[in-house]
Amino acid sequence: MGFFNSFVWGLALLICLLPMLNNFNGREGVVAFHKINLKYQTNNLVQVKQIYRTGYHFQPKKNWINDPNAPMYYKGFYHLFYQYNPKGAEWGNIVWAHSVSKDLINWIPLEPAIVPSKPFDKYGCWSGSATILPGNKPVIIYTGIVNKKPKPGHQVQNYAIPANYSDPYLRKWIKPDNNPIIKPTHENVSSFRDPTTAWFNNGQWKLIIGSKNNNRGIAYMYKSRDFINWTKAKHPLHTKPNVGMWECPDFFPVSSQGSNGLDTSALGKDIRYVFKASLDITRFDYYTIGNYNVAKDKYVPYNTSVDGWAGLRYDYGNFYASKTFFDPIKKRRILMGWANESSTKSEDKAKGWAGIHLIPRKIWLDSSGHNLLQWPVNELDSLRGQKVELSNVKLNKGDTIEVKGITVVQADVDVTFTFSSLDKAELYDPKWAKIFSPENLAQSICGIKGATVQGGLGPFGLLTLASSKLEEYTPVFFRIFKITNNKHKVLFCSDATPSSLNQNEYKPSFASFVEVDLAEKKLSLRSLIDHSVVESFAEGGKAVISSRVYPTLAIAQNAHLHVFNNGSEVVTIERLNAWSMKTAHVN
Ligand code: FRU
Repeated sequence: MGFFNSFVWGLALLICLLPMLNNFNGREGVVAFHKINLKYQTNNLVQVKQIYRTGYHFQPKKNWINDPNAPMYYKGFYHLFYQYNPKGAEWGNIVWAHSVSKDLINWIPLEPAIVPSKPFDKYGCWSGSATILPGNKPVIIYTGIVNKKPKPGHQVQNYAIPANYSDPYLRKWIKPDNNPIIKPTHENVSSFRDPTTAWFNNGQWKLIIGSKNNNRGIAYMYKSRDFINWTKAKHPLHTKPNVGMWECPDFFPVSSQGSNGLDTSALGKDIRYVFKASLDITRFDYYTIGNYNVAKDKYVPYNTSVDGWAGLRYDYGNFYASKTFFDPIKKRRILMGWANESSTKSEDKAKGWAGIHLIPRKIWLDSSGHNLLQWPVNELDSLRGQKVELSNVKLNKGDTIEVKGITVVQADVDVTFTFSSLDKAELYDPKWAKIFSPENLAQSICGIKGATVQGGLGPFGLLTLASSKLEEYTPVFFRIFKITNNKHKVLFCSDATPSSLNQNEYKPSFASFVEVDLAEKKLSLRSLIDHSVVESFAEGGKAVISSRVYPTLAIAQNAHLHVFNNGSEVVTIERLNAWSMKTAHVN
């Protein structure tokens, strides 16, 4: 009862949140590029604090990580490279660390594959991608920093090839001396990075490189017949004003017929294209779906996709600098992304590590053609252990039901809710569109309508990582609004605000609207809970939100899981399956 009687608490929360809502990721609150702090660069002897380390989300043993690089499948192994600081828990000294896996879940660490050593990458080996050339020959193209000036460094593109193609681990990489193979031709030499996987058509290999000019995001295109000599295309593949630097672009085909993935060079009539850019200013990954004119080498988003700050995101939470690759074995396209910490720099230093990768997701086009669907690779299911099930349980207003019998700090929870009517859905307030900016609309509404704020149809969902007296919990939930009698809006929230008593953390009320046909009066949710991350998929992966949270009480055996309803309409747990998750070998 205490939990739901906290109207006053909710009000206090609103007052605290309002100033943040306009600031977070807004045009004013710009957090560009990685902040460097020299004092954390050489700290080799820090003690690695374990309580927030993940049990099955990828992370190295210690230190800082950011972008996944050049994921690929080669001779029986999935390869993952990633941006890594071998000397500390903050960005800097970046090398390409390397791990391999048979199942995308358990990873074996190898020696770093690419490290600064030559004039063409002396000051940094930044993000890049792999392309598998005919004859099963992988090539990596990555960004090298040739000069520290102008900040963040003068950028060129280099290639690297395996020293020994018969080694399935691809342990050693050669950086030939004819590097760099692509140099910036414009003045903005410090904004020219993150080459994509190349694709082949009309006799040429093509790739794009992220850039900006003033505030215009640009994906420069380069073409080559031999993969060594590259020429800049007349036009960028795509460009957009007022969005700032496009980091880590990605461009790939998706099938309009089913969920199988396609090789990056695939062409054909049942194919649509996805263009993704990581916006340095907002630190989110945005995508559009559109048409690729091969003759003109131009990408044009369909008018069903918003191109910009208010557009679709892979993940409405902490997820950045992602990259996809085609898995030729299971015929699927896989998305890998990075989640930074939400803790302070000094906490990162104290714990000796920062950054994780989210669970690799299969990604494909929704049958509407308007958005992508994402789902954790099914190899993850092999970690499922102890299971509890609930079915057909009614939740009246104010009810919470504890799910007992699993290790909540490391769990996989899949639940479907049903309700019998939409009548009680609360009215959607049109003034929200006026007071909140479009890119922050859902998050701002979640900020004022948290789990404790009573509603009509919803809020209902999960209270993950909850302490015994609910001093801390991370709610993941739905709230349904009525726009007209037969038009509704479904809000999906993962609210870190009540997640921790520690006041220093960044605790956003991440949220998204989910386009759902409510005819069936059903909504589903899956949350992957892993100590300091809650990665949640609404409606089979139509919207995804990953939150980083740092409970102080809801840790180890003291973390609880509840299902709740705080709306006046009765909601039924049609089915809930929850599993304890075993610990994976994550390096
Ligand atoms: C994205 C990014 C890339 C860059 C790399 C450097 O997080 O800034 O643009 O290549 O990280 O580590």
